[in-house]
Amino acid sequence: MKLAILSRNSKLYSTRRLVEAARERGHSARVLDPLRCYMRIASDGFDMHYKGRPISGYQAVLPRIGASITRYGCAVLRQFELMGSVTPNSAEAIARARDKLRTHQLLAAQGIDMPVTVFGDNPDDTVDLLSMLGPPPHVIKLNESSQGAGVILTEKPSASRSVVEALRGLYANFLVQEFIAEAEGADLRCFVVGDEVVAAMRRQAPKGDFRSNLHRGGSAEAVEASDDERKVAVRAARVLGLGVAGVDLIRARRGPLVLEVNSSPGLEGIEAATGVNVAGKIIENLEKADKKAKRRRS
Ligand SMILES: Nc1ncnc2c1ncn2[C@@H]1O[C@H](COP(=O)(O)OP(=O)(O)O)[C@@H](O)[C@H]1O
Ligand SMILES: [Mg+2]
Repeated sequence: MKLAILSRNSKLYSTRRLVEAARERGHSARVLDPLRCYMRIASDGFDMHYKGRPISGYQAVLPRIGASITRYGCAVLRQFELMGSVTPNSAEAIARARDKLRTHQLLAAQGIDMPVTVFGDNPDDTVDLLSMLGPPPHVIKLNESSQGAGVILTEKPSASRSVVEALRGLYANFLVQEFIAEAEGADLRCFVVGDEVVAAMRRQAPKGDFRSNLHRGGSAEAVEASDDERKVAVRAARVLGLGVAGVDLIRARRGPLVLEVNSSPGLEGIEAATGVNVAGKIIENLEKADKKAKRRRS
């Protein structure tokens, strides 16, 4: 396969590992900075240039598109799809997964359990909005949060109200959730490739925090996900249309709840914690997709 990895930085661990795994399996792999891809859109065909030269013939594309460039990155990815490349995560699916509200609605509609979530627009409705959720503690999350940086725990009704008002004043988009206290600062990252959880790790928040993100100082250890947890993770990825996804579950008394579905899950933490060649699994899965596409074309 001639394979492109869309990534802003070829030195990042995940990017390097994907290149390495692709070459190990006999493919040609090249890292393309999505912001240096530019395109011609016309009814007679789709063209792409990269740093002054035309590029074409990529059978497969692996997107590693950061949250800050979702829009342009997805346009580039869509152009590759229109030029015939296969990808585990389509531009459509990535855009879907990047929107927390949309993700929650789509998952809940398929009966996938999650912390009860409310959101609203008008400040006049804040008190009633919070009453739809029930008494605190609440977890307030910025819609664009990643790595735990926009996630706040409020323990009193007055705190929930004033955080909501402050965020409104900043024109931020956010949602409010029930706090799952029994998780005790832990969550379960299930790395989904195709229709399988290929690796799973339990992340534990540092003392004094409830956020288990590794970027917040959380620690990770390999664990076996239960059958139930695997099923939920694979279904969540499938509902969003993602062939590669990091599905974060929280272990609640009522069962596994989906916290979020990441369309560009990092490889470093999960490979280090579990010893699984996750990059290799991603390439292997891509080979299957490529074969299928070839069969369809012939
Ligand atoms: N409703 C909740 N109840 C308990 N803990 C939560 C809840 N939501 C998030 N957390 C904790 O906070 C962390 C970050 O939340 P998350 O929704 O994944 O935001 P981010 O996109 O910033 O990672 C989670 O990994 C989890 O440990
Ligand atoms: Mg998270």
